[in-house]
Amino acid sequence: MTQLLIRDLAQVVTPITGQAPLRGRDLGRVEVVENAYVLLDGDRIVSVGPMTALGALTGSREELDGRGLSAIPGLVDCHTHPAFAGDRVHEFALRAGGATYDELLAAGGGILSTTRATRAAGQMALDAFVARHRDAMIAHGTTTFEGKSGYGLDRETEVAQLTAIRDAGGIPTWLGAHAVPPEQPGADAYVDWAIREVLPEAAAIAVAADVFVERGTFDTAQARRYLEACRQRGLALRLHGDQLSEMGAVPLAVELRARSIDHLESTGADGVAMLAASGVVAVLLPIAALYLGRPMPPARALVDAGAAIALATDFNPGSAYCESLPVVCTLACTQLGLTPEEALAACTVNAAHVLGLDDRGRLAPGLRADVVLLDATDWRHLAYHLAGDVVHTVIQGGQVVRGPA
Ligand code: NIG
Ligand code: FE
Repeated sequence: MTQLLIRDLAQVVTPITGQAPLRGRDLGRVEVVENAYVLLDGDRIVSVGPMTALGALTGSREELDGRGLSAIPGLVDCHTHPAFAGDRVHEFALRAGGATYDELLAAGGGILSTTRATRAAGQMALDAFVARHRDAMIAHGTTTFEGKSGYGLDRETEVAQLTAIRDAGGIPTWLGAHAVPPEQPGADAYVDWAIREVLPEAAAIAVAADVFVERGTFDTAQARRYLEACRQRGLALRLHGDQLSEMGAVPLAVELRARSIDHLESTGADGVAMLAASGVVAVLLPIAALYLGRPMPPARALVDAGAAIALATDFNPGSAYCESLPVVCTLACTQLGLTPEEALAACTVNAAHVLGLDDRGRLAPGLRADVVLLDATDWRHLAYHLAGDVVHTVIQGGQVVRGPA
């Protein structure tokens, strides 16, 4: 295996070692090494440290000049919806004129309009769309992405979406309970049908299941039935909860020991306390709140109460058309009351934990060689440079997948 030495970096930064997910004060503790190197061997990190500690190296080796750059762990996007066809630019314009997200969905638009386009697309087109969005994520420093289905809502298209996500290198989540498609008589009948007809094939591809608990989509009884059936098939459990209204998704997530509950724009003090006392990770999606003009989730309260949080883009054509985790970090620092250090841990090590991946999210010996080089001598430009061109080089599994712009 060839070694790759990234030398003379202005800074190397990593969330601290410790039991994932990091919580409370640990979330904001990072290690910063100045004038530093990172040594990779194949797809693993060998060592990280100050240049003065770099001993004599043997064997063949490539070198990358890190002068003027800083290194952070490859970013992990633990919540995206990249497997769709078409777009919703028309609805974006309607919302700009005052229409609301839930009104558009109730009128057969929203998720259901993307479902019509996605059903018509076919496997090859879906593969190409997911690959395109994956490449955009990589350009923004994402080296691991999760992707959800949920725009098929029939067996063939749900399976095609999961296949496209897996084949693009993503971590597939079956979002079978995203909305009720028009050919189904109602949410109860649809959940029964999906468990019977789609779950067996979906469970062979997906690693987790997800449900949208909301007025007009699925209530907690339907979500429980869906999630319990998915758990029996070995899937980890996740929920979209408290996005537009508090519907009891937090107590359900805690009771079912879900991996995560995502959104939480409407969560109050009781929900915060309940999550803090649980192992469920609160995945915060500030782009969705910004895009829909909703309140931001109570990130500071969650962290201060001791809850585990992660950050993600929620990339999708309706409520968050943006693949950039650096933008999420900017919003975390300007809208959610988090520090750059907390934001970094939330979209690296904690996001990896949500996906059940403990081999990434930090720069430490033995972990996967996923490294992002930022075009700045202070790594906090990651969050500071709003929508800036801050990502210089992306190394995924030891391979340079994106070079200097
Ligand atoms: O996480 N809220 C539900 N699902 C997505 C949006 C999907 C869509 O609008 O197409 C979300 O925001
Ligand atoms: Fe989502």
